[in-house]
Amino acid sequence: MKEQIDITIKPTMACNMKCKHCFNGDAFVQTEKLNLQTAYLFMEKACQEYKKVKVTFHGGEPTLAGIDFYNNFYTKQRELQQKFGTQINNQIVTNGLLLTNEFIDLLNEHNVLINLSFDGPYNYLLRQQTQKVQEIVFKVRNKGGRFKCFCTLSKSSATHLLDIYNWFKYNHISFKTLPIEKRGYAKNNVDIIMSPEELAENFEQVYRIWLTDKEFDISYSTFEEFANLRRDLQHRKFWFERKIAMNPDGRMYTFGRPNDIHYCIGSPVEVDSLNDCFETEDYKKFLSSLEQMRNNRCPSCESSTVCGGVNINIAYLYVNEPELVDYSCRQSNMLFQRILNVNDEVINDFKSGIYDKYNDYIKEKYAPYKGGSN
Ligand SMILES: C[S@@+](CC[C@H](N)C(=O)[O-])C[C@H]1O[C@@H](n2cnc3c(N)ncnc32)[C@H](O)[C@@H]1O
Repeated sequence: MKEQIDITIKPTMACNMKCKHCFNGDAFVQTEKLNLQTAYLFMEKACQEYKKVKVTFHGGEPTLAGIDFYNNFYTKQRELQQKFGTQINNQIVTNGLLLTNEFIDLLNEHNVLINLSFDGPYNYLLRQQTQKVQEIVFKVRNKGGRFKCFCTLSKSSATHLLDIYNWFKYNHISFKTLPIEKRGYAKNNVDIIMSPEELAENFEQVYRIWLTDKEFDISYSTFEEFANLRRDLQHRKFWFERKIAMNPDGRMYTFGRPNDIHYCIGSPVEVDSLNDCFETEDYKKFLSSLEQMRNNRCPSCESSTVCGGVNINIAYLYVNEPELVDYSCRQSNMLFQRILNVNDEVINDFKSGIYDKYNDYIKEKYAPYKGGSN
């Protein structure tokens, strides 16, 4: 048995919200719907071969598949879990519009992490039906299941990052922030895109506040990731051969973002095992394209050690236009450097025994640097 695989399932690429920034743009056929039996087969193959399986429903808007799709899928998943002893971690990424009480209860019953796209006090800038979705956000929170918000940052909202931070803090909702990247519809909507400099500036200001905010009792995963950045460590592992996505056409692709549509690696009906997908010509072509990108651009980048080329490869999963990939790289580089400088200050404080002012997350993460007396 292999250790772990992450599978992304996109039951439909249709959506019931027209977000101004959507990275999918018009890249997909909206009418195609994933056949439930094909999704089962994908799940079955994953459980047969791997000890741990992480399952993420994404899209399009995944809840458009309807509550029965999920009820049937998770019931079948439970049988597979018992048969193979698989450890399963379920997630969904949704705009929340269709989350009725019954739907939320079903997701909670299966311990699904609900990632709800909602941008706090600036939600109306990019999305529709803010009032309705906000009520659903509070309903999901109050039901007490696994839950966090995906908060997208635009040019206008990024300058109010502190308001956003406080909104999530006072409403006790864990979140992460996704800065809008020039992809899909966002590519032609330049007024919603901030410059890398602006973004880095806003992030740094609020990150400094969070570091010493002792009343912050939720998780802001973006800042937790920042806090883990070190100059001599690659910040994120590569996912190669650990991640596969299924599109509504019932075929498997390399990752689960728009640009991987060029790398079809089979269908669960055709392959004997998911491992076969990683042996296909398209998978090899995918790996060599990613390697080429890293070889061409990373050596001259000052963030090459901390990034390790992961960010340029992630950018390529969304777009294959060199100018847009370069833009993402510039943004990541600027952010890495700003945050690494702050983290150096924190390390120095800990070495000098000045750590009482920091929040509990930081105190625990930086404990190994402790020196002096507090
Ligand atoms: C593409 S949506 C798909 C799932 C679902 N329909 C939803 O709204 O959550 C997933 C997340 O990606 C974010 N997103 C879309 N386009 C983006 C872009 N160009 N840059 C950054 N985040 C983006 C959305 O705001 C949303 O939180």
